Amino acid sequence: MSHLTDTKSWQALAKHRDNIKHMRELFAEDNQRFEKMSVKGCGLLLDYSKNRLDETALSNLFQLANETKLTEKIQAMFAGNAINTTENRAVLHTALRASSDTEVIVNGQNVMPEIQQTLKKMEQFVNDVHNGTWVGYTGKTITDIVSIGIGGSFLGPKIVSQALRPYWTGHINCHFVANVDGTSIVEKLKPLDPETTLFVMSSKSFSTQETLTNTLSARNWLLKSGADKAAVAKHFVAITSNVAKATEFGIEEKNTFPMWNWVGGRYSLWSAIGLPIVLLTGFETFKTLLNGAAEMDEHFATQPLEQNMPVLMGLISLWYSNFYGSESQVILTYDHYLRGLPAYIQQLDMESNGKSVDLAGNSLDYNTGPVIWGGEGTNGQHAYHQLIHQGTALIPADFIFPLTSHNPLGNHHIQLASNCFGQTQALMQGRTFEEAKAELSNSNLSEEQKNIIAKHKVMPGNRPSNTILMDKLTPKTLGALIALYEHRTFVQGAVWDINSFDQWGVELGKVLGVDVLNRLGSDKSCSELDSSSNSLINLFKKGSL
Ligand code: F6P
Repeated sequence: MSHLTDTKSWQALAKHRDNIKHMRELFAEDNQRFEKMSVKGCGLLLDYSKNRLDETALSNLFQLANETKLTEKIQAMFAGNAINTTENRAVLHTALRASSDTEVIVNGQNVMPEIQQTLKKMEQFVNDVHNGTWVGYTGKTITDIVSIGIGGSFLGPKIVSQALRPYWTGHINCHFVANVDGTSIVEKLKPLDPETTLFVMSSKSFSTQETLTNTLSARNWLLKSGADKAAVAKHFVAITSNVAKATEFGIEEKNTFPMWNWVGGRYSLWSAIGLPIVLLTGFETFKTLLNGAAEMDEHFATQPLEQNMPVLMGLISLWYSNFYGSESQVILTYDHYLRGLPAYIQQLDMESNGKSVDLAGNSLDYNTGPVIWGGEGTNGQHAYHQLIHQGTALIPADFIFPLTSHNPLGNHHIQLASNCFGQTQALMQGRTFEEAKAELSNSNLSEEQKNIIAKHKVMPGNRPSNTILMDKLTPKTLGALIALYEHRTFVQGAVWDINSFDQWGVELGKVLGVDVLNRLGSDKSCSELDSSSNSLINLFKKGSL
């Protein structure tokens, strides 16, 4: 048995699991349950009362956090210790949003001045584009940005820009290209004018195949329009930690924005990777987004475990993964602007915690990261909610809802609220056989038929959910919300004793992809691999079935 499953609190949690009453009973017994099991902070409210938790379970979860030294691990992250042990790197996305007078030391050097300089450079660049000082190769003002990047160099800027749609300044349009499928860039470029389009190439490594290929195609598109090579400097900027490669590509050094190896790709939207957000919403909005995240950092670093939102959410999530065999979790955003958030949290959590060895390299005998999925309410209610209500799998859900809409329109928002709250209630209380039978009392069905139909209508209830509320979706609350999920991911990784900050599985895929690419490009028929891979490669070369 590993150290974690040996701990007293783990054993106690495993024993206690089956003693917890149905949530219906827990609510009936204690009309203060909401007051006791909700936390406010950073413009958010977390209601975690609709969970399979009682006082004993909670105190054992906090005990587990203590036994696994969670507080010390949180401090180590903020202090800039090299907690990404396999790459010997600090993990400091929190420094990107810290106030300028903070000191954060990495390898003996305070990184804050460099962060501030980069922010200034971003501000200047965006002002130049907005006020027409930065022009295209024919002297025309820039009207469209095409952001090229993938993974963390795509999801953060795209989803935050989408979420902050009400804050766009109107100076510019932005389009995102990630997929290496040529259709993506071809369709995006079709309506655009090369003379007024600026490409923002985002790649920490400057070596990601999809991003390099899309950037080359973008450059060819520009050159085909009659621009000469010198025009590339006016139409391409890059965000990268590999400036040498960017300049080799033709992007002038002065048009590059730095990235640092102490920022992981999936945690990078707060860095210059957030440039598309600034181009769309302006620098002040971006600063407010950073401030919102900084508030959550402060909360995470200072609040006691019992009042600490990321800690609570991390422990609750782990409770279902490890003690109820729950293999997936769903994020349900009841706000159209947040429709992309589940995809963002999916990368954040699954790339971070999809691990099966501990820090010392030992195989784990407990589950780690669950599958994260989701979508926007109410659409999901007419699709996959059926399985969450009545399926055989236990799928803990997070419901996210702003109390005030940016678009008050008739009864829309009150209906949205009723759906959101109604879903969490239905999941919690379910419907008993007796209730289902009573609902059929006026029907003409026989007693036997009523019994059968009632069985189909039974909903077990006791299905867990968190509800996260905010007054309104603003740059500040959005920053806090994203940081909340970043730290939730950290909490789980810390208790599981895994490295949440590397991604070796993804790296292997990249290496094998290059090998297959070489084989696809060669004249020789492929016969060295397994029979499936050989046949697929040869069929592609033939070009037809
Ligand atoms: O998918 C793996 C990954 O390394 C992500 O973590 C990262 O955000 C993405 O690739 C893109 O990497 P880069 O910014 O170096 O192009």
